[in-house]
Amino acid sequence: MSGFFRDAGVLVCDGVPLDQIVRDHGTPLYVYSAGSIRTAYRDLDAAFGSHPHRIHYALKANSSFAIARLLCGIGSGVDANSIGEVDLALRAGFSPSDIVFSGVGKSPDEIERAVQLGLKAINAESAGELERIDRAAQARGVRARVAVRVNPDIDAGTHPHISTGLHINKFGVPLEQAAGLYRRMSEQPGLQPVAIHVHLGSQIISTEPIQRGAGEVVRLARELRDSGIQLEHIDVGGGLGISYDGSRVPSAAEYAAAILAIVAPSGFPVALEPGRYIVGASAVLVARVVDIKPAAGGRHFAVLDAGMTELMRPALYGSFHRIEPVTPRQAREICYDIVGPVCESTDALGHDRRLPALEVADALAIFDAGAYGSAMSNNYNRRSLPPEVLVDDGKVRLIRRRQTIDDQLSLETN
Ligand code: LLP
Repeated sequence: MSGFFRDAGVLVCDGVPLDQIVRDHGTPLYVYSAGSIRTAYRDLDAAFGSHPHRIHYALKANSSFAIARLLCGIGSGVDANSIGEVDLALRAGFSPSDIVFSGVGKSPDEIERAVQLGLKAINAESAGELERIDRAAQARGVRARVAVRVNPDIDAGTHPHISTGLHINKFGVPLEQAAGLYRRMSEQPGLQPVAIHVHLGSQIISTEPIQRGAGEVVRLARELRDSGIQLEHIDVGGGLGISYDGSRVPSAAEYAAAILAIVAPSGFPVALEPGRYIVGASAVLVARVVDIKPAAGGRHFAVLDAGMTELMRPALYGSFHRIEPVTPRQAREICYDIVGPVCESTDALGHDRRLPALEVADALAIFDAGAYGSAMSNNYNRRSLPPEVLVDDGKVRLIRRRQTIDDQLSLETN
């Protein structure tokens, strides 16, 4: 069994006790299960069965090099959101034809490089961006493979900060304008339309908006086909949520069934851009208690050596992550606010958590930290990025060492 579970009370990752990993590598520390990533990828791949499809793992969720390489090794493609992610993907072994390039504000340099590489698709965000891609491609005498990202004004029912498919969001082109943009491409010799792209948001826990979004792009792709514009695939984006608190979320099979019900009759191959579904459950962030102090109302603060610098999601979206002691004590339960060491009151990892009485130096595991955890970590307060280890087949491998103050200062001068 891969992933994180308790074996006679001891928290293990792919069979290796977490307390041992923490003794060897210190805290704060990200611990990943390779088995969990492979299982999620394969479950999603299998759910689409024989319908032509390609998974383009959304690197923004976690672009640690070893994880990108792992996914490359099992046949994934990638969705990149910056030229940095494109370069990371190339170094990890992906080919240009494995890469779709999204992103709401592609710079001239990014467009130039994407065109030069000949990526599978540049997912364009506006009429102006299409013109800039056309000019860059014409200057090189090539045709850039492009998709238009449509914004269908569909509410994905997710946190407002991670909703992207409404007209109030900055993303894409209003659906009604998309057909006109595709028709105009016949006069833009640098552009080869290959797909339509939609992405409604992240941590979506109902298949209904996803199916509606797919319905809109399939309708448009059929309309274009009827007018002589034949696309190669439709890109339904990412967004499938995971369960952070144990509540029910759609399975890969339910997600695929919802999309295929709409797409399969059209015959169009599908591209998917899952991030969180692939890596979300694959990691815990382990931190140690550095202080415990009483708070108002009989509660207590447990101050950890990790906070919003290592895992920003609770501070940014009020997200819930399960928090459990690595080695539980036999003690009465106490209600804690689990907070970080950063000089901001939003620096918390969990509120009102009932845990067996903690002591300074106890290690806590913050679950489901694999997506948008390490990827969004930062150096605020001059804190150093934590190390990352990957547990694969019972072996623990350091995939990123702990950053030092020398690493940070190596970029700077006086
Ligand atoms: N494709 C595009 C164009 C995207 O913008 C995203 C995510 C994805 C795919 C992958 O979505 P996923 O399958 O991971 O939901 N930092 C936030 C999430 C931001 C998502 C940004 N875009 C969080 O921690 O919840």
